Amino acid sequence: MSAPAPARRWPLTCPRPSAIRSNARLPDLEPAAAKELGQNALLNSSQLLKPSAKPPQVLRNEIESVLISAPRLARRINALARRIETDFAGRDLVVVALLNGTVMFLADLLRGLSLPLRLDFIGVSSYGAGIRPGDLIFTKELRLDVRGRDVLLVDDILDTGRTISRVMAKLRPLEPRDIKICVLLDKPSRREERINADYVGFAIPNHFVVGYGLDYAERYRNLPFVGVLHPQLYKA
Ligand code: IMP
Ligand code: MG
Repeated sequence: MSAPAPARRWPLTCPRPSAIRSNARLPDLEPAAAKELGQNALLNSSQLLKPSAKPPQVLRNEIESVLISAPRLARRINALARRIETDFAGRDLVVVALLNGTVMFLADLLRGLSLPLRLDFIGVSSYGAGIRPGDLIFTKELRLDVRGRDVLLVDDILDTGRTISRVMAKLRPLEPRDIKICVLLDKPSRREERINADYVGFAIPNHFVVGYGLDYAERYRNLPFVGVLHPQLYKA
């Protein structure tokens, strides 16, 4: 009987939280995302983030390139947290995160926020096992009362905009004072709904990306970086 294949590993290069927090004033914001942050402006294609580094050798058949490295994610999320802290100072903040894709982004964003807040989740599933948006299924409903409070709605990626539109339609009747949208990634070229995020980590081109919470058929969520999925995996 042959020996079991060795477990595949990738380097865990996420900086420690202390290292993240020490970057309080960010010298190297992504220019495109910095421009967009808080402005709601769509970016033209020349401003979008481009894939750069190669992924770890063990993943090269599946991940075409690293789009956003772990240190770059950490720096950007720290900058978003600073901005959110300023904007929500003195407000009655409820962070509402969409499951499951926000898991890593949310954890890092929350650790960077040093203002009082409440946290709740809405479970929503927009894809089956593929890459095309299907019908939305709500898998968990909001439990906290958001009436009169300021909601920060957090999602992993704003793509066609259908998911966030549906969630907004659910939240508005609950009469929050305000709802702001925060996404790690934005694919403006794919938009079908008239919706933009108030806080955007990175505007990206039209690649199917995985890692740092984002999945393809529920895999790759645990990668510490955002990578471009090899199209051969879903075009076959
Ligand atoms: P939308 O409803 O088309 O805006 O899609 C939002 C949801 O689709 C996200 O919350 C993700 O779960 C998923 N999604 C969209 N694009 C990608 C991608 O490139 N990689 C992984 N998931 C994606
Ligand atoms: Mg998903």
